[in-house]
Amino acid sequence: MNKVDGVLNIDLTNEKCKVSNNLFGLFFEDINNSLDGGLYAELVRNRSFEFEEAFEGWNEVILGVGKTEILSNESLNKKNPNYLRINCEEGSIGVANGGFGGFFLKKDTKYRISFYGRSSTNSTVEFFLQNENGIKCCGESFKLSNDWIKYEKIVKVEKESKEGVLRIMLNEKGIADLDFISVMPVETFANKKNGMRKDMATSLKDIKPAFFRFPGGCIVEGKTMDNAYLWKETIGDLTERRGKENLWGYHQSFGVGYHEYFEFCEDIGAEPVPILNVGMACQARKGIHSHIEDIDIYIQDALDLIEYCNGDISTKWGEQRAKNGHPEPFNLKFLGIGNEQWGDDYYPRYEKFYDVVKEKYPNIKYIFASGPFADGFLYKDAWKWAKKSGKADIIDEHYYMAPDWFLQNINRYDDYDRNGPKVFAGEYAAHNSQRKNNLEVALAEAAYMTGLEKNSDVVVMAAYAPLFAKYNEFQWAPNLIWFNNETIVKTPSYYVQNLFGNNVGEIVVTSE
Ligand code: AHR
Repeated sequence: MNKVDGVLNIDLTNEKCKVSNNLFGLFFEDINNSLDGGLYAELVRNRSFEFEEAFEGWNEVILGVGKTEILSNESLNKKNPNYLRINCEEGSIGVANGGFGGFFLKKDTKYRISFYGRSSTNSTVEFFLQNENGIKCCGESFKLSNDWIKYEKIVKVEKESKEGVLRIMLNEKGIADLDFISVMPVETFANKKNGMRKDMATSLKDIKPAFFRFPGGCIVEGKTMDNAYLWKETIGDLTERRGKENLWGYHQSFGVGYHEYFEFCEDIGAEPVPILNVGMACQARKGIHSHIEDIDIYIQDALDLIEYCNGDISTKWGEQRAKNGHPEPFNLKFLGIGNEQWGDDYYPRYEKFYDVVKEKYPNIKYIFASGPFADGFLYKDAWKWAKKSGKADIIDEHYYMAPDWFLQNINRYDDYDRNGPKVFAGEYAAHNSQRKNNLEVALAEAAYMTGLEKNSDVVVMAAYAPLFAKYNEFQWAPNLIWFNNETIVKTPSYYVQNLFGNNVGEIVVTSE
């Protein structure tokens, strides 16, 4: 028999606690170009010409006499007024779009080309995708009518492309107006027409996440209140969603907005955990907040969101949800009020929110933030305020720390008050000095997660962060999954999350 170096004693008669049903979930934020050009399957960048620089992402192609321009009169709609006009006098005039770092197209896959168009000359425009060698992969032509109409055709890729472009050409004398130009794979996750990239979304579902926290992260807060994330701006007709720059410095189209996030939660079997702005811009970036007297609109947004999720279709927002394609309620159970807030600016705003929403919707669990650190004054003060006020159902703790810290803190929650607020480890990751996703950090996270699970009477939810990063276009490391337009790379930390998510215990028994 081999020598035994250690003995694990398990006392099956001593049940310590039940493991929370919501313990291991996901944190999603549109950081590191995770959404547009990432999880969102849309391939065209700046599809409605509404970026701050209207022509960004597009190039003019002049093979004759004529011009292209961005106009905004007699538009498709008033919210996104810009559109492209191609005016050809002779030869061929058009545009090219390289997407988010070039179009990756697999042979024999199908794509849906769609756009809104009109032509006072009833002209025909040609759409085609060509690869990095200038070879045509697939394409279609569309004869346009006089008024704005949506056009749509499915094409099949005949030649592969690694870094291709979409070209749109008017090859005859005439005028063509185009807007909301989209190329999407026909096959998306859960077969949604406005869907998610299948490989990326499947990697999330495979973790069997108990919940999905969205849309962040700091983007909820915004650098200023102008780019704070407001859910009502992200629902309804896609062409009327007005995108804007996010806190991480790039444009977000809102092609995936709150409605799509809720449906995605259903598709991956996770509880939705939306986080709302509490009337405060990012404190870490010294953003200027709304005055406390003016935060009623954000409180109303919270009430309306709950009604959007849980109200029946006779309610104003329940009706809106049905109009957006989902008559059944989303059954919201958790709501975060503020992301990584802290201190005396936060507490009174949170309290104002909490008093109103808790009174109207007492069954929802409201999540209170404890700032950006695992310890120290801000963290301690937040806990003190939460306990004294009795107004935090769950406290959101964030920690990005060295692997050693995780190993030394496996017992962090052993001594937490069992009668106080519960804990949501809402963002965590082990950071080594090179910020690498290696086995060292993954093992530290795994060890630490055993400490979360054994204290699951206190720690009811936990999520690694951030989730995705696009190679060469990221603002933060490490991340759980790396990707480019072709493929994804799952890190050792991903396999830890997958292992725990797929093997959550039910009961904690004592062991030593
Ligand atoms: O996960 C990346 C960032 O870390 C989040 O946006 C923020 O909440 C935290 O500071």
